[in-house]
Amino acid sequence: MEIKKVYGIYFSPTHTTKKVVESIVKGTEKDSESIDITLSWKNMKEYSLKNDDLLIFGAPVYGGRAPRLIREALNKINGDNTPIILVGVYGNRAYEDFFVEAQDIFEKNGFRVVGAGAFLGEHSFTTKVAKGRPNFEDLLKGENFGREIILKIRNLEEIKSMDLPGNRPYKQDMVSRNIAPEPDENCKSCGACVKVCPTGAIGKNPKDIDPSKCILCHACVRVCKFNSRKVKGEAIKPAIDFLEGKCNDYKEIEIYL
Ligand SMILES: Cc1cc2nc3c(=O)[nH]c(=O)nc-3n(C[C@H](O)[C@H](O)[C@H](O)COP(=O)(O)O)c2cc1C
Ligand code: SF4
Ligand code: SF4
Repeated sequence: MEIKKVYGIYFSPTHTTKKVVESIVKGTEKDSESIDITLSWKNMKEYSLKNDDLLIFGAPVYGGRAPRLIREALNKINGDNTPIILVGVYGNRAYEDFFVEAQDIFEKNGFRVVGAGAFLGEHSFTTKVAKGRPNFEDLLKGENFGREIILKIRNLEEIKSMDLPGNRPYKQDMVSRNIAPEPDENCKSCGACVKVCPTGAIGKNPKDIDPSKCILCHACVRVCKFNSRKVKGEAIKPAIDFLEGKCNDYKEIEIYL
């Protein structure tokens, strides 16, 4: 079977998933379109992919699951027995049930999983964990994965689903912590953080925050040139200490084809 068009669709507040998905799309060497749903997930239009399209879908792993925020929106992406590659980008702890959950969402909507890749991305909470990932080598592996996917599909007589790692029922969702990064006295009110927040947790005035909307994605922290935004106090310190202490080994990308 020959793929005509490749769609790379991703949610990526701190851009690691974006880099990985785009490397895979590049490797396919097909006519392609990249769609970033990080900010548009709420008012996303419907997408209907054909059976000779290929979807490469990527998202960060949040609490061993697909990000809760976008799960509902993913139902607007429909296939017609369309092959899909699932890309989970995780911060060196674990990806647990991300793949089976994403598989269930997309297969219900007309896609068939023909491959998956667990990639590493610098942890949103601390730049010391999975530092610099995806690195140059990871992105070359991404391109190679893209090439291999096209070869695999070319040799398939029919698009069938595959078994992926993970458990059903999925692990419990993370509990919302009702905290958010806050600006300190270095804030210049430039508004950059407001523009990148996927949930609208930051008001027009960057000092106005609604922590109940915050998913701790850290897009606002990374975009601030003045290093002004941080989660205050002890709120996520135990999680950061755990990550920096126990999740600092070098993990390799895992490909399922
Ligand atoms: C709320 C939240 C939960 C996370 N949960 C996990 C996790 O369960 N396992 C893991 O290894 N990394 C976890 N991470 C780290 C992200 O998966 C990782 O940093 C990813 O590269 C971020 O993707 P992005 O750059 O596309 O936003 C979590 C990050 C956030 C913000
Ligand atoms: S990006 Fe930084 S300096 Fe600009 S408004 Fe946000 S917190 Fe303030
Ligand atoms: S306020 Fe929360 S949801 Fe918005 S960008 Fe910052 S961490 Fe992400």
